[in-house]
Amino acid sequence: MKTTSLLLTALLSTGAFSAPLKIELPAEAPTLKAAAGVEIAMQNCLTCHSAEYMTTQPPLSRAAWKASVDKMKGKFGAQIPAEQIETLVDYLSKNYGQPNP
Ligand code: HEC
Repeated sequence: MKTTSLLLTALLSTGAFSAPLKIELPAEAPTLKAAAGVEIAMQNCLTCHSAEYMTTQPPLSRAAWKASVDKMKGKFGAQIPAEQIETLVDYLSKNYGQPNP
C-alpha cells in the first residue's frame, strides 16, 4: 500500500502529468450577413451546423436555395415555420446566391 502511494508521488513529481496543455481553437466562425431575413436564418439554420458550413457553398440559384431549405426541413427536420420560408429563401439567394438568379 505504502509502495503504491510512494510510486504515485514519484510519478506525479516527475511532471509527467503536468505538461502544459495548449489548446488553440480556430478563429470564430463568421456569422451570417446582416440583411432582411437574417434573423430567420439565425433562428432556424444554426442549430445543426455553423453559418460557415452553409455559406461556403458555391453561389446557388434561388431554386437551389429553396431546394436546400426544403431538404433541411423535410429530410433533417429543421423547424422552419412555413410562412417564413419565402423570406428565408430570399435572404439566402440575395446574400449567398448567384448574381442574377
Ligand atoms: C435539423 C438539423 C438541421 C437544420 C436545422 C438545418 N440543417 Fe442544413 N444540414 C443539416 C445536415 C445534417 C447537413 C449535411 C447534409 C449532407 O451531408 O447531405 C446539412 C447541410 C447543409 C448545407 C450543405 C449542402 C447540403 O445540402 O448538404 C446547406 C447549404 C445547409 N445545410 C443549409 C441550411 C439552411 C439554409 C438551414 C436553415 C433553413 C439549415 N441548413 C438548417 C442539418 C440541418
